[in-house]
Amino acid sequence: MKMRMSRLPHLAIFFFAASVHLLLFSICPVSSRIYRTNDAVVIEVDDVRPSTFANRNFANPAPIPMMYAVNPYTILLSQPYSNFPFWPYPLYQQPASSSVPDVEDVAATSSESKQQKINCGVGPPSPPQRSLPVAAIVGGSEAIPNSWPFIAGLRIAGRSSVFCGGSIISPTRILTAAHCVEKMSAFNISTMTVNLGMHNQTGNDADHTRRVSRVVYHIAYNANTNQNDVAVLTIDPPIVYSAAVSPVCLPRASSAVDQFAGKDAAIMGWGRENENDTIPPDVLKQATVQIIPNADCKTQYAVGGVEMEITNQQLCASADGRDTCQGDSGGPIVVQAGSTTAWTQVGITSFGNGCAKPNFAGVYASVAFFRNWINTYMNS
Ligand code: ARG
Repeated sequence: MKMRMSRLPHLAIFFFAASVHLLLFSICPVSSRIYRTNDAVVIEVDDVRPSTFANRNFANPAPIPMMYAVNPYTILLSQPYSNFPFWPYPLYQQPASSSVPDVEDVAATSSESKQQKINCGVGPPSPPQRSLPVAAIVGGSEAIPNSWPFIAGLRIAGRSSVFCGGSIISPTRILTAAHCVEKMSAFNISTMTVNLGMHNQTGNDADHTRRVSRVVYHIAYNANTNQNDVAVLTIDPPIVYSAAVSPVCLPRASSAVDQFAGKDAAIMGWGRENENDTIPPDVLKQATVQIIPNADCKTQYAVGGVEMEITNQQLCASADGRDTCQGDSGGPIVVQAGSTTAWTQVGITSFGNGCAKPNFAGVYASVAFFRNWINTYMNS
């Protein structure tokens, strides 16, 4: 073995680099891949199971000494929060808050759904009452706790409240809006949690909390035009459906515009109750709005000063003084389609000109339009 002296510095550099790498690896909690497919951007975030902690019970409410990790709570904390789950990984133990028994088949959860043998779209028997004069989503009412079992609340470290909504479409998938996740780094995503079976976001009475192991958003999402505002999250571990947690129905793929126009639709979320509010409501709010013809919406948004193009991949819904608002994004707008009382998600809350402004409907990404895209990332 002849080793020239000049090799030594190289070896030294190699070992130095290796040490730095190891050090970084040991303090960085996130291992991720970010890549694109022909129609999506995919961000995968590995689970983190530090062996020394693997068997520990990170039970609520003890905070975790994150000696090996960058502590997101000091770095990203922009405001105090009391209810963010401390450690968004499967080891986190849910407080035993739910009295709802887990059942495999959601068809068994309501008499209506039992009769109709539906396994998706469980919800109230009819759209929320229009007459309730209670402040809400904007102009809505408080939902009956757990009456919309497919609603999901998305949280991220550093924010005390839900930042976006979503909906359960399978035991491992949440449908939401691309604009909810598009700006996130893999590290942000590693601090993200999905709350299911939740009513009170302030007290966080969620039945289940999940980490997000993959974010997929539409590759053609455009933040300026709000087009292609669709994303699918993979949650980990999978959920078992129960009376308070079950999937929404999805419409068949279709680019037909106006197939739901004129229908009453329910909107729901933990978003602002007023355009200018800074604090969101504690509890899930709901309201009934009407889906309007796409052409009417195009006209509304074509006005000077707004000039936003509404396309066939969107649908719009409005009602006097009622609308989704900031924080409701990503959440579902649902109708009782066909002859069943099951709730079908026709849109994903996307944007609006202010909230509940007269002459401006709320705009939603059409689920039927994106159904094939959704299927791709729902099934793989
Ligand atoms: N972009 C908003 C969000 O991020 C949703 C806005 C819905 N606005 C409306 N007027 N319908 O939460």
